[in-house]
Amino acid sequence: MDKLKMHSPDLSQDNIAKIRDLFPGCVTEARDETSGKLRLAVDFDQLRQELSENIVDGPQERYRLEWPGKRQALTLANAPIAKTLRPSIAESVTFEDTRNLILEGDNLEALKLLQETYLGRVKLIYIDPPYNTGNDFVYEDDFGLSTESFLLKSNQVTESGNRLVANPDSSGRFHSDWLDMIYPRIRIARNLLSDDGIIVASIDENEISNLRKVFDEVFGEDNLLFQITLLCNPKGRSQDKYVANCHEYLVGYSKQNLPKGSVNVPKDDEEIAANYKLKDKRGRYRELELRNTHREFGKHNRKNLYYPFYVSSTGQVSLDAQPGFHPVFPDWDDGFEGCWTWGTGKARSQLDEVVAREVKGSWKIFRKNYAEGEDGEATKQVKSIWTDKIFHTEKGQATFNELFKTREKIFQSPKSVDTLREVIRMSTHRDSVVLDFFAGSGTTGHAVLAQNAEDGGNRKFIMVQIDEQTPEGSEARKAGFSTVVEITKERIRRAGEKILEGICHANWDRDVGFRVLKVDTSNMKDVYYRPDELKQSDLLDMVDNVKEGRTSEDLLFQVLVDWGVDLTLPVRRETVQGKTVFFVDDNALVACFDRGVTEELVKELAKREPLRVVFRDNGFASDAVKINVGQIFRQLSSTTDVKSI
Ligand SMILES: C[S@@+](CC[C@H](N)C(=O)[O-])C[C@H]1O[C@@H](n2cnc3c(N)ncnc32)[C@H](O)[C@@H]1O
Repeated sequence: MDKLKMHSPDLSQDNIAKIRDLFPGCVTEARDETSGKLRLAVDFDQLRQELSENIVDGPQERYRLEWPGKRQALTLANAPIAKTLRPSIAESVTFEDTRNLILEGDNLEALKLLQETYLGRVKLIYIDPPYNTGNDFVYEDDFGLSTESFLLKSNQVTESGNRLVANPDSSGRFHSDWLDMIYPRIRIARNLLSDDGIIVASIDENEISNLRKVFDEVFGEDNLLFQITLLCNPKGRSQDKYVANCHEYLVGYSKQNLPKGSVNVPKDDEEIAANYKLKDKRGRYRELELRNTHREFGKHNRKNLYYPFYVSSTGQVSLDAQPGFHPVFPDWDDGFEGCWTWGTGKARSQLDEVVAREVKGSWKIFRKNYAEGEDGEATKQVKSIWTDKIFHTEKGQATFNELFKTREKIFQSPKSVDTLREVIRMSTHRDSVVLDFFAGSGTTGHAVLAQNAEDGGNRKFIMVQIDEQTPEGSEARKAGFSTVVEITKERIRRAGEKILEGICHANWDRDVGFRVLKVDTSNMKDVYYRPDELKQSDLLDMVDNVKEGRTSEDLLFQVLVDWGVDLTLPVRRETVQGKTVFFVDDNALVACFDRGVTEELVKELAKREPLRVVFRDNGFASDAVKINVGQIFRQLSSTTDVKSI
């Protein structure tokens, strides 16, 4: 029976495995100096030879993002952690039925724990990280450690506590500190995006250039989708030194090159009714002039777009001269020889969309512009500057304050829900997973619920928020919130209730719940998963490999994380042969962590033919039962993956 590994993936080993797939001869095995174990290692001399024509090496100049600490930041991104996610049923809303998650803890650790389950599954990642204004906080990571000691340390740190540190602009490492914080998170966040996934970040002038460079490196500069300027504070910040800033940015990148129109938003019904008044068998349309309305383009520089349509006296259109048809050129009323916007090829293949109309005694050519595209969706392009007051931060504050029935700033400057809804409309399908790993007051979760309620989508959210303390004496403290994540949970609770009171789309599943999962140290005693470091005095501890105070639900979620099973699947608890057994989505995974597991119980579970089954390593009634487990499953349910913890 295999044991679950109980730590997040070692991403540098995964990366080396990818290189091995491309260049098998360049990867070898080497003994790790600290642990003595064999690990994959890159033979760089060999790899150099493979790429010899294109190597940029040593001091040679190249275009790239560099700062002191980058190497360690990358090591940090790739290092595995021996941590887990512990469910808090009491703080969750409809724990059993919901498919939404709020993860409490540091987002780097949370992202690592999501690697197996959400690999390639997230459609939209939205982040609103600290802007590095000189007053805000960035997360302190200890870069002085090797991967191994990091693993050890992360397992030993029992309480993550408050490890956010102020980053004053007098700091010699002002931008480096921020890059240290953001870079590893962006690196590993990319793995979670689906192939058509999009990452969008809110940021202001302080770090826009660095964030763009990080995104360019991690996603590729060709995958920049947009940099939108958002008027968030029309009054402007009078404390600014030179000009009063009143805007910030929304920067979006895709994981891969996406086709044109990929971030279009749906047109609303009133807009369609007002602008697309004509109708044919394909749908609603409007007529737009086919002639290029820009005078800088014409026959003089676009010869191939200067050709005649032939029009009959009843308005029939042809590209070929016919008796009774007369030619119409893209000429302006003053005689200027302009040009069409379509070439002859497109005009011929879409001739049924070309219309001729007599306007003030002369014939003009129009094209039908349909409300709906080829895919049947009526969408439009988003503009690169957003000024509407629904996007202002003031609007975000008002929505939040209305929910909390307060005039005080319990949470300072939450984003406007409408801003997030527009980002969601641009970047998701109706059943997409949306991740925000700087959740703050949970605006993104609120926006996902509001958008679903309106369009009948069943998008799901994952919010990550560190249990950062609220400042002593702050309005948040006065209102009874000692940590920011308490605010996140309460905001989404209140938003969900309010949305359900309003008009909701009939197709929406009305899921306003969320499971709260807290990042914590592993449930397992460290020594158990490091047999090479086992001391005689630890042997007694082996009798039980689970830490005091950890519940069966804790163990179940650690197994889900480790095995990459969806953390939102329904969990049912049953008593079978007198023992507690968890059934995750009926038979996706079956788990029994009780002691005294008998052969009868094992057989009964095997008969249900689960995809995966897990027991406690020392949970069997006897050694004989433990030895027989494999055999029983081979006979009764040969496809079940059997593991122990
Ligand atoms: C600018 S706020 C986000 C505000 C949010 N968009 C809203 O509308 O409410 C950034 C949030 O990220 C959180 N944060 C900072 N570092 C973090 C980390 N390492 N892990 C998780 N959350 C973190 C902060 O506590 C803060 O609540």
